[in-house]
Amino acid sequence: MDFDTYERDLWDGRADAYQRGFARMTAGSVGPLLDAAGVGPGTRVLDVGTGPGIVSAEAVRRGASVTAVDAEPTMAATARANVPGLDVREAVLPHLPLPDAAFDAVVGNFVINHVSDPDAAVRAFARVLRPGGKLALTCWEMPPSGALSLVTEALEEAGVPFPDDIPTSPFMDLGKRGPFAALLRDAGFPDASDAELRWTHHVDPEDWWTTGALARVGTNGVIVSRQDAPTVAKIKTAYDRLATRYATPDGLLALPANALIATGTR
Ligand SMILES: C[S@@+](CC[C@H](N)C(=O)[O-])C[C@H]1O[C@@H](n2cnc3c(N)ncnc32)[C@H](O)[C@@H]1O
Repeated sequence: MDFDTYERDLWDGRADAYQRGFARMTAGSVGPLLDAAGVGPGTRVLDVGTGPGIVSAEAVRRGASVTAVDAEPTMAATARANVPGLDVREAVLPHLPLPDAAFDAVVGNFVINHVSDPDAAVRAFARVLRPGGKLALTCWEMPPSGALSLVTEALEEAGVPFPDDIPTSPFMDLGKRGPFAALLRDAGFPDASDAELRWTHHVDPEDWWTTGALARVGTNGVIVSRQDAPTVAKIKTAYDRLATRYATPDGLLALPANALIATGTR
């Protein structure tokens, strides 16, 4: 299966589960992302891979004029519902059905790691930015750790092998300090730099399990969804044990979110 085919299937119909689970974690980088792109009153912003629209919502709250795109129809519909009046287009990156030099800022929260050709996507972002416009992108730091690896470790402990037919993301190599900035530099952003972004996601352990692994969100969710009931039970036992490392006295998990942010000027 090619990477884009896998990605379309990965997100198909996932908007509701994603917004109840993962999006509460990705919300942690929205402020730094918009700050890095200089988003404020009147900024013409393009939010790529908007998902349920959490970046767009905050940009609108800051007084920006926002356009959003997503490849997944249920995500686009959810963003429209969450951010009244938001101009949301359905488009699969690197295709961007938007005019040249139309934006002051392009922002993408955890989308660049989901495209098959990140270089072509960044070139498309450069095309729609005006000279002097800002690009800011986040990705998960590779190899996965903290919040991102809890279910992975549970799958490993339960003896579930990584399936042969799931393609590897180009971001296994690019999701590192240095290569992430170089991606932007080589695709039209000569001053690009990258930095670590760290926060803690506080979440109920059962919610994290049911809105992620059990709801087929993310690759771990896809792998869990392919298992029979006894194997899922085994993965859950491992998950419960491994999750205790992050347990807080109030019964939540304090999951480390380990991301990178890359910024550049057109
Ligand atoms: C991890 S979610 C991030 C959503 C949101 N930005 C956030 O901060 O939570 C990735 C989103 O990118 C979208 N996506 C994945 N590949 C895409 C592509 N090639 N073009 C456009 N959107 C894509 C998915 O449909 C999904 O909504």
